[in-house]
Amino acid sequence: MLAFIARSMAKQARLVKPVSLVKLPGRYLAHQESLPCLPVPPLQQTLDKYLLALKPLVSQEEWNHTKHLADDFQTSGVGERLQKGLERRAKKTENWLSDWWLQTAYLEYRLPVVVHSSPGVVLPKQDFVDRQGQLRFAAKLIEGVLDFKTMIDNETLPIEYLGGKELCMNQYYQILSSCRVPGPKRDSVVNYSQATKPPTHITVVHNFQFFELDVYNSDGTPLTADQIFLQLEKIWGSSLQTNKEPIGILTTNHRNSWAKSYNNLIKDKTNKESVRIIQKSIFTVCLDAPMPCVSEELYKSRVAAQMLHGGGSRWNSGNRWFDKTLQFIVAEDGSCGLVYEHAPAEGPPIVALLDHVVEYTKKPELVRSPMTPLPMPKKLRFNITPEIKNDIEQAKQNLNIMVHDLDVKVFVFGVFGKNFPKSQKMSPDAFIQVALQLAYYRIYGQVCATYESASLRIFRLGRTDTIRSASVDSLNFVKGMEDTSKQNQEKVDLFRKAVLAHRSYTDMAINGSAIDRHLLGLKLQAIEDLASMPEIFMDTSYAVAMHYNLSTSQVPAKIDCVMCFGPVVPDGYGVCYNPMEDHINFSVSAFNSCAETNAARLAHYLERALCDIQQLIQSTPRSKL
Ligand code: COA
Repeated sequence: MLAFIARSMAKQARLVKPVSLVKLPGRYLAHQESLPCLPVPPLQQTLDKYLLALKPLVSQEEWNHTKHLADDFQTSGVGERLQKGLERRAKKTENWLSDWWLQTAYLEYRLPVVVHSSPGVVLPKQDFVDRQGQLRFAAKLIEGVLDFKTMIDNETLPIEYLGGKELCMNQYYQILSSCRVPGPKRDSVVNYSQATKPPTHITVVHNFQFFELDVYNSDGTPLTADQIFLQLEKIWGSSLQTNKEPIGILTTNHRNSWAKSYNNLIKDKTNKESVRIIQKSIFTVCLDAPMPCVSEELYKSRVAAQMLHGGGSRWNSGNRWFDKTLQFIVAEDGSCGLVYEHAPAEGPPIVALLDHVVEYTKKPELVRSPMTPLPMPKKLRFNITPEIKNDIEQAKQNLNIMVHDLDVKVFVFGVFGKNFPKSQKMSPDAFIQVALQLAYYRIYGQVCATYESASLRIFRLGRTDTIRSASVDSLNFVKGMEDTSKQNQEKVDLFRKAVLAHRSYTDMAINGSAIDRHLLGLKLQAIEDLASMPEIFMDTSYAVAMHYNLSTSQVPAKIDCVMCFGPVVPDGYGVCYNPMEDHINFSVSAFNSCAETNAARLAHYLERALCDIQQLIQSTPRSKL
């Protein structure tokens, strides 16, 4: 049976059409070619590290069993055969992992992109409170994105660094003029940025109605904010009816259902053309209707929900096309942010773009542009058959369940930021991760498999690997911290040791020697070879190790924002943070349908853990560890 599944998956894998992601042009191409290729780590090294990573997660008995399976995987020759396959793949491709990762992590993933895959970003609240302010800000934001696009097009975007090493810039070329397209078994991504005639329009959506807005003059110069503002006013004025079918809701559905509706939808020529205009557009701007007012304390969490799912079919969820890579959201009450489809890129390039755009919106308008009349933006028409209407109703119901199920808490931890760990000669990221381990342990009395994304962008076409934050050292610390018989000095030493261990896992991960993607590669290689699935991947320990109750990520930004995303398992949490110099912005998500999880509770324990650790360190003289 398993061999059959493996065979059919391998057959599917061969049927995958090459993804239409773009290749880098000119100067970046040379930079790109100078980057090292992602290595395939030695097999024994990965197996040893895997066994070590299991220690805090499984019983001794389970561990002994897995040790036996790992030895067998190594000595039977199965592991070596798969390893050789991976090494051959690494020689033949630019990056042995990136296409597999794109397919398995994103395009073959069938749950809705909303909440389950697409991250949102909560931007600082803007100080406008009316339509004029909303449209002015949106116009300036659009101008700012076009300014960033010019840097991408001219290849003047500065090359980024991590740990002193140059990073792959490919993701910047994947985020504009691109869109996910649903497919019956797997989706695809279309990208028009390097087309012979690249798009010159964006899509704007207001009251569930989509518009094509040309943002370049005929001489190729971008429209100014003043010009865009007038165009947005026209859009606003011709989309005042609120009784329109929220066609965009279809994009919130389970991917198989959406793929079915999609095929049906685009049978109609008008619909097909409208969908193509959205897919081709450089990006989307959503002019949102006001959401219910909440207390100041809940405000950021409410905006996070608005960014992640739009608030449900009654509110702004129909004001989106969730397959679109970049959707900027601007509401009348000054709330703003973004939601992005994850397949083409990770958070850091998206946030770098936002850093630029938000700074740009603060610049005063220097020249007032001559007001030559511009044509009315084109409204995109959709012919809604009874079948499509039915699909929309079904999608609304599913979405509303999802909206009610998402529990999200955004908060600012104001006691300290990166400054305190740095003053103690500790990595701020590791400090936060170990504190999170303490928070989780205090709630559940145990640790769980924890995922932190690590960038692989020092390699050509690199995406991410996993930093496993639950380690032997973090477990020793959290147990020690709760042990009243231990002296403070010992607790601080355990904490410092856990932080060092986390930082050293981070270094290993960003340098391509972590274990998660290698294990995935070996598994996919077995599928591709039509071999039966090795026992090591059928083991309970493997399932435990891959069940990430804590899925976390640092997405640093210059602006005071925070990214947010949903949990990756039904009984888990999604935790994202942006450590600023003197405070940390956090988002925590969970599902209401899981009685054991609660975003506000984890947030509370996290704040307490951070404060307790600071107090512990401050009240204990430095040891010589
Ligand atoms: N003493 C003093 N300062 C230290 C220190 C120490 N022992 N260790 C680190 N620092 C400093 C660093 O120099 C850095 O300084 P800066 O603020 O001037 O830049 C700062 O503390 C932050 O370092 P650290 O907290 O260790 O984290 P990092 O910036 O190295 O980031 C990762 C770690 C894992 C987040 C990063 O490597 C990464 O991979 N990011 C990508 C995440 C990603 O792709 N997410 C995707 C989400 S969709």
